[in-house]
Amino acid sequence: MKRIVLLFLAAAVFAKHEQYAGWSSYYVEPSTPEQLKMLGALVPAFDLDFLAHATIGREGVVLVKPQYQAGFLQTLEKEGITYRVHVADVKGQLDFDDQVIETRKRVAAAKHKYSMPYDNYQTIDVIDRYLEDIANNHSDIVTLVSPNNSFEGHPIKYLKISSSNFEDLSKPVIFIDGGIHAREWISPASVTYAIHKLVEDLTEKDLVENYDWVLLPIVNPDGYKYTFNKSRFWRKTRSTDQDALGRLCPGVDGNRNYDFNWRTVGTSSNPCHDTFGGSRPFSEVETRVVKGILQEHLDRITLYISMHSYGSMILYPWGHDGTVSPYEPDLKTVGNIMSDAIKKKALSYFPAYAVGNSLRVIGYGASGGSDDYAHSIGVPLSYTIELPGLQGGYQGFHLDPQYIAQVCEETWGAIAAGARKSAELFGKRK
Ligand SMILES: *[C@@H]1O[C@H](CO)[C@@H](O)[C@H](O)[C@H]1NC(C)=O
Ligand SMILES: *[C@@H]1O[C@H](CO)[C@@H](O)[C@H](O)[C@H]1NC(C)=O
Ligand SMILES: *[C@@H]1O[C@H](CO)[C@@H](O)[C@H](O)[C@H]1NC(C)=O
Ligand SMILES: [Zn+2]
Repeated sequence: MKRIVLLFLAAAVFAKHEQYAGWSSYYVEPSTPEQLKMLGALVPAFDLDFLAHATIGREGVVLVKPQYQAGFLQTLEKEGITYRVHVADVKGQLDFDDQVIETRKRVAAAKHKYSMPYDNYQTIDVIDRYLEDIANNHSDIVTLVSPNNSFEGHPIKYLKISSSNFEDLSKPVIFIDGGIHAREWISPASVTYAIHKLVEDLTEKDLVENYDWVLLPIVNPDGYKYTFNKSRFWRKTRSTDQDALGRLCPGVDGNRNYDFNWRTVGTSSNPCHDTFGGSRPFSEVETRVVKGILQEHLDRITLYISMHSYGSMILYPWGHDGTVSPYEPDLKTVGNIMSDAIKKKALSYFPAYAVGNSLRVIGYGASGGSDDYAHSIGVPLSYTIELPGLQGGYQGFHLDPQYIAQVCEETWGAIAAGARKSAELFGKRK
C-alpha cells in the first residue's frame, strides 16, 4: 500500500512538466554589439525566452521550444554567435528540481530555525499566513495592508513596518517589492527575509527606529500560484481581459505595464508573448497596487527596489533608452554600495554583481518597467535587482533551495546598506 502511494506521488510529480517535453535551453555569448542586437531580434522570430540576459562577454541563457531549435541554432551558426547546450532536457531537469525540493521538505520538516524557513521555496498560502502572523504578533510596529485582489481574486498583501505608525513624516520610506515575474521564486523570499530581519531578528535597530518600510513580497499572486501548480516558467499575470486572444493567451508582463514610455521597446503587443505590455498602461490591478504605494509615499520614498531573478545585476534607469538620469551619480554610488555589501557576504563561486544603467548593462532596452516609472515620478533611487542564479550549472530560477538563505542574507546586507545611504543622500526631502 505504502509503495503504491509513493509510486502515485512520483507519477504526479513527473506528469507535471509534460508541457516542457522536447524543450532545451542554451548558453549564448554575443561578442559584439551587432550580435547582441541580433539576439534581441531573434526573440520574436523564434519565440525565445531569455532566462538570463546575455551581455557582451557574459553568457545568457535562452529557453527554446522544440519546433524552433533547428532554425535557432542554424541562425546562431550563420551569425557566428557562440553557444553551448545549457539543459538538453528541460522537462527532465524540472522533474529533478521537484525531487530536490520534495526531499528537502521531508528532511527539514522537523528543525525549523525561523517561523517561516528559508530552506525551501514557500507556497503563497504559507507566505500569506506568515504576513498575517507577523502583523498579528507584532502589531506595535507592523500593519498588514491588502488594498486589492489580483485578477483571479487573490488578495495582494503587503506589510508596513514603522516604529511611529508612518506618522513621523521626517523618516525616509524604503519600498521593496518582489514576485512581479511569477517564476522568479527567489524574489519573494528575499522580501520576506527583509521582514524577518526587521521584525523577528532585529539586529540593526536604527533600521526600524529611523525608517519606515513597505514590503510587498508577491505583486503577482496568480502567476506565482500558477508556477507552483501548472507551468514552472510562467512569467506574466493571469488576466484574460487584455485582448480578444486573452483566453487563449492570458497574462501581461507586469514589468512592461507601467506608464513610462509604455510599449515602446523590449516589449510586445502580442498577448501570446512573454513581454506583452497589456492593452494600456496599468491595465493590471497588480501594477496599480504598486503605483498606489509609490504615489502614497512619494515625497518620502528614498529607495525603491524591485526584486527579480536572475543574473546578479543591480540595474537603474533609464532602461528604455539608456540615457543618463540626472541622479546617475547617486544611482551609481548607492548601486555600488549595495553590491559591495553583497560581496562581503557572498559565496566565492557565485557570479559577481554588475552595477549600472540597465540598458547599458543588459545591452538592449525595455520600457514600462517599475524602476523607470518610479524614477519618472520622483523616486530618486530606483533599482531592479536581478538576484543570482548559478550560471555555471543549471540553476537560474531553479537556484537550489540550499542557497535561498544565503542569497536572502547577502541581499539583506544590500538593502540595509542602500537604505542608510539613501537616507543620507535624500532623507528629509520635504
Ligand atoms: C505568532 O504567534 C503564534 C502564537 O504565539 C505563534 O504560534 C506563531 O509561530 C507566531 N508566528 C509568527 C510568524 O510570528
Ligand atoms: C494550487 O491551486 C490551488 C487552488 O487555486 C491553491 O489553493 C493552492 O494554493 C495552489 N498550490 C500552490 C502550491 O500554490
Ligand atoms: C482596487 O479596487 C477597487 C474596486 O475595484 C478600485 O476602485 C480601486 O481603484 C482599486 N485600487 C487599485 C490601487 O487598483
Ligand atoms: Zn523579472
